[in-house]
Amino acid sequence: MKMRSVIASIGCAVAVSVSSITPVLAADAADANKLLRESKCTKCHSIDKKKDGPAYKDVSAKYKDKADAVATLTKHMTEPGMVEVDGEQEEHGTVKTRDPKRVKNLVDFILSL
Ligand code: HEC
Repeated sequence: MKMRSVIASIGCAVAVSVSSITPVLAADAADANKLLRESKCTKCHSIDKKKDGPAYKDVSAKYKDKADAVATLTKHMTEPGMVEVDGEQEEHGTVKTRDPKRVKNLVDFILSL
């Protein structure tokens, strides 16, 4: 227990996000965020604010308890589709990687929010 609080306070001191030091959440937040930027997802989504697309926190809340969450989100990010933005149909981007590990990491990251 004591060790934990020490680790927690170190985390705060250097402003490391909690998710990167909590072992339960295995997702690599830095790589997930990098992939979101590289794939231009950040144009329409942010972690905790609604933009043209829903906040990833809301996506997480919506899918967290669903058995097929990983499969559904993976499909949504890797297969092209259309979404409605301001009443117009726009192409929903896909992640700019073919590495299934990075995709899975991003899905895990979103579900950990
Ligand atoms: C043109 C703006 C736009 C871009 C770019 C975009 N999204 Fe979205 N995204 C949306 C909108 C709008 C929705 C809501 C669609 C709906 O609810 O039908 C959405 C929904 C989602 C959802 C939730 C799906 C659901 O069923 O609730 C996920 C996950 C998601 N986007 C991930 C991504 C990722 C990852 C990227 C980058 C590869 C990305 N989006 C790029 C606009 C965008």
